[in-house]
Amino acid sequence: MNNEAIKLRVEELLGQMTIEEKVAQMMQIPYNMTGKEEALRWAKLGAGSFLHVLGDDAREIQQAALKESRLGIPVIFGIDAIHGHGLKHEATIFPTQLAAACSWDPAIAEEMGRVTAREVASDGLHWTFSPVLCLGRDTRWGRVSETFGEDPFLAGEMGYGIVRGYQGDSLDAPDSILACAKHYIGYGEAVGARDAIDTQMTYRKMKEVFLPPFKRAIDAGCATFMTAYGSIDGHSFTSDPKSLKTILRDEMGFDGFVVTDWNNCESLMKQQFVAENMEDCAVQSANAGNDMIMSTLGFYDAALSAFKAGKLSEAVVDDAVRHILAMKLKMNLFEKPEKLGVPGCVGCQEHLDAALRAARASLTMLKNEGALPIKAAKKVAVIGQNADDLNSQYGDWTYFTHPNAHEPKPPRRPYVTIKEGFEALCAERGIECVYHRGCEVKPDIVDDGRVLGDPVAEAIRQQGLARARAKDDIPGAVDAARDADHIVLVVGDMIDQYGEYKDRANLELSGRQMELYRALRALRIPLTVVLVASKPLCIPEIAATADAVIVAFNGGMFGGQAVAEAAFGLLNPAGRLPISFPQHSGQLPVYYNSLPGWHGGKYMDLPADPVYAFGEGIGYAPFTYANFDLDPATLIATVDVTNEGDVAGTEVVQVYMHDVIASVIRPVKQLIAFTRVEIQPGETKTVAIQLKKEDFQLVNREEKYVVEPGDFELFIGHSSKNADLLKLGFTLLADGSVILTPKAAPVAPALTLEYLTYYLQETWSMTLQEWISGFAKPLEVVNQLQGIQSKNVPVDAFIEAVRETVETRGTCKRKLDELAGE
Ligand code: NOJ
Repeated sequence: MNNEAIKLRVEELLGQMTIEEKVAQMMQIPYNMTGKEEALRWAKLGAGSFLHVLGDDAREIQQAALKESRLGIPVIFGIDAIHGHGLKHEATIFPTQLAAACSWDPAIAEEMGRVTAREVASDGLHWTFSPVLCLGRDTRWGRVSETFGEDPFLAGEMGYGIVRGYQGDSLDAPDSILACAKHYIGYGEAVGARDAIDTQMTYRKMKEVFLPPFKRAIDAGCATFMTAYGSIDGHSFTSDPKSLKTILRDEMGFDGFVVTDWNNCESLMKQQFVAENMEDCAVQSANAGNDMIMSTLGFYDAALSAFKAGKLSEAVVDDAVRHILAMKLKMNLFEKPEKLGVPGCVGCQEHLDAALRAARASLTMLKNEGALPIKAAKKVAVIGQNADDLNSQYGDWTYFTHPNAHEPKPPRRPYVTIKEGFEALCAERGIECVYHRGCEVKPDIVDDGRVLGDPVAEAIRQQGLARARAKDDIPGAVDAARDADHIVLVVGDMIDQYGEYKDRANLELSGRQMELYRALRALRIPLTVVLVASKPLCIPEIAATADAVIVAFNGGMFGGQAVAEAAFGLLNPAGRLPISFPQHSGQLPVYYNSLPGWHGGKYMDLPADPVYAFGEGIGYAPFTYANFDLDPATLIATVDVTNEGDVAGTEVVQVYMHDVIASVIRPVKQLIAFTRVEIQPGETKTVAIQLKKEDFQLVNREEKYVVEPGDFELFIGHSSKNADLLKLGFTLLADGSVILTPKAAPVAPALTLEYLTYYLQETWSMTLQEWISGFAKPLEVVNQLQGIQSKNVPVDAFIEAVRETVETRGTCKRKLDELAGE
């Protein structure tokens, strides 16, 4: 059906519908709350959609809607199939979005989406509430694992891929389902990372930081959006026409339909206190531009009575219903109400292979001081609960990890835990493999310190700890590992510690996991630590003292296999972090693309830098970069990347920009492009990346996207860390042309004595005089300083030297010499 025909048919249907049927069409009924009887009643009334119902139950509801409602309008079924059709027992489970984002590969996201669509559609369902395009910036938030990480650009590219995968080439294909970009918008930005509470947001910030991934979802044709729980400048998103209509439809051109999140409508009254009664809730939600109302059963009566009282116009209801019906027609549901999917595809080998590819692509190695790959070992000890815990490996929103799961059933094979992955590969190599659980990831402690200082709570906590200690067996783990040639310790978090309502104030490893780590480390046997977790946890000591560190996050069915393969060198990990690892919870948020300021962003008792930065990740082949260039005519950036190792590897070439002077404060650095390139040992590849002027745009005070002429810095390299990046500068002229800054000239502002004086005072409470006199030969330093100044050395390079000098108590002259030299 073409667009014209769809429009005509929608108007024809609207003309036949009563106001009751129109309001019913806006309803989304939560099957898991109503049960079958009530669900069937709603179907007969003409409800537009149901959520959280699977297979045969869904088919029964569809039949009731088709045969027993007056107009027989088909319903659409929505489900949280967010890393696979996970709420279904037989389905293929992929890595979570956060894990998948480590691949920096939109093709992986697309494949996840495609497989999920085929499986969801085979269950007769039409719609997944995915992708989550919120940003995981304050990682104490319980839902970080559902995001593609902290960066708008990366999240947008992965989001684009997965939406394409879900929706395929045409929405009416039997194996295409609707995607839903959620949560629109800023959900992850709740203050203190406390789920769904006060969000500090402005429209400008929303447009600059949070909107880009949603814009990419629209580019991919995303059919639906979900309204977030939060608020913007005192306005609930649920009742905010500026975000739901002006920005979403008028400015971004979205033409699908908007569904609220769970009970947003009633929450206007019950949680946000901006509506007096249900009628008011209904009017505000509908007027703002929510087309479908999720799980607020009271909306039906309230909207109808508001309509009768003249408070809700029929035109508003018509608009909402238009959007919903148009989508049903685009899906061809009036002809084929039930999606058929691909018979026999649920959990089929082809899909399992895709899950394995995704798990491998997600794997991220962060440290390896020669311990890996494991060679010539006689015995490997695998230690830790998460090495053999499928809940933790799968993460949230699967049939046995999510609340509201359907019938509890034991996990379905095939899957491979880390323990099993090592057992299999060790057996092939004639290596002995032992496993020991060590200690609980999260001891079952009532209150878990929540009532600090309260003697009763403390007593309960101590009892809980005693119970946990009785289960823990750290000495047993040490004994098991004592004569091993390699120890693989798996640490992390578990399902009780993340998800909705489960934000954590403290991201240290819980339970006695650090005690276990230290006990194993004391054996002085090569030690690899693997993190199976929903988010970055605070592991500074492990980062400093383990021999190797691998991050698996929640890798899905084959997460364990990928870890074992990487440890034995069968897989050269190419994952890169989509999110930064904090030193300490008190440092959060610690995302790389913060706005600059003048006190250096550090606490007096914590550094500014994370333990591992956005974009970091190593493999068995190191890469070097040279000859960074930008063609001013075409805006194609080129760089030579060499594989210095002796195995083939994939490098993720990352491009960042910094706007030197702008009308609004810009991030210190922002990812604008990346590409993956496979390079053979010893080979150099010239990588070319097409940039566009819009990559440099900002949102001005008038909330408009503009590209301001002026100076920019461009960085290219291996991660977001300065040390990993090459830099060049260019000027964008008002006529749109680009002038490259001559290579020899500094790109960053050059050092002045005033700046140095200020920096020393602010950072170290030290005068310039004190600093200079800390050197063995102060005069020499003064001369060097003058030399450095006359060479226009960039401030940041100089400050690095100063920092190193201060931290090593004035003995480090080497850096200064380097800067003063040629
Ligand atoms: C609430 C969650 O916030 C949202 O992500 C989810 O899609 C809906 N519930 C439906 O389960």
